[in-house]
Amino acid sequence: MPHACLGSASTTDWDDDNIAKGYGHRRLLDGHDAGVEGNGQRATGWNRLSSRPCVGKRNNSLMSFNMHEQPTGPARRRLLLAAAGLATAALSGVATARLATPQQMRGPFYPDRMPLDQDNDLTRLMDRGPSQGEITDLSGRILDVDGTPINDALVEIWQCDANGRYIHTGDQGGRRRDPGFQGYGKTRSGSDGRYRFRTIKPVPYPGRAPHIHVAVTAPGRKPLVTQLYVEGARENSRDFLRSLLSAEELAAVTVPFRPSRDGSGHLAARFDIVMT
Ligand SMILES: [Fe+2]
Repeated sequence: MPHACLGSASTTDWDDDNIAKGYGHRRLLDGHDAGVEGNGQRATGWNRLSSRPCVGKRNNSLMSFNMHEQPTGPARRRLLLAAAGLATAALSGVATARLATPQQMRGPFYPDRMPLDQDNDLTRLMDRGPSQGEITDLSGRILDVDGTPINDALVEIWQCDANGRYIHTGDQGGRRRDPGFQGYGKTRSGSDGRYRFRTIKPVPYPGRAPHIHVAVTAPGRKPLVTQLYVEGARENSRDFLRSLLSAEELAAVTVPFRPSRDGSGHLAARFDIVMT
């Protein structure tokens, strides 16, 4: 007997299609490593909507009905309410399911000698003067895919200074290292998942668009290593590592750096991180 379906959309499981990209180095003019910055994986998973032709079983009176015996009166009202509830649940699923922040390569310049000062203000190293570069307040939340804040996650960042130099003995670039820039910092997320750093707006170096390396670890979570990019940077379209990411992944790791509204004259950037 024919029956009509209410129709539905539901979130599917994670597409855990991790693609190992291998390890390699390509030397550049200033000694930086370009295109392939280490050993990493590309996480391509995200929740998708999948249309199902039918919800429930045919014998469930709320889920299906005979086209030729459509209910009327109170029964029809109950049916419509049930349909509305299903639609709300489906939309709710869309709103809360989040794309996991994509894994990206760690790169060769994670500090091999940690600075004495490792706090979350990278613009001051010990008692030295402020660093060069555009001071930026970088903040965000560490969340799971359902949007639940992750407390006490260790968040590390590292990046080159305003002259394109990392604090790494393997970075023998020609320009002088900024002695006031810490180059690396770490902090922990609060109970609301929030974290914050004071750093500089990243600058490009040969072969790479401006980026900040980010690593996050939290109990019971898959360790995350990724990179954050600057929205609108002209080098973005020529960056090999960015070319490995899907449009959705790029959107998740590319953020605007805007003038802060607190009157400090700093920039502000917000980067929410989603862990699996
Ligand atoms: Fe880098």
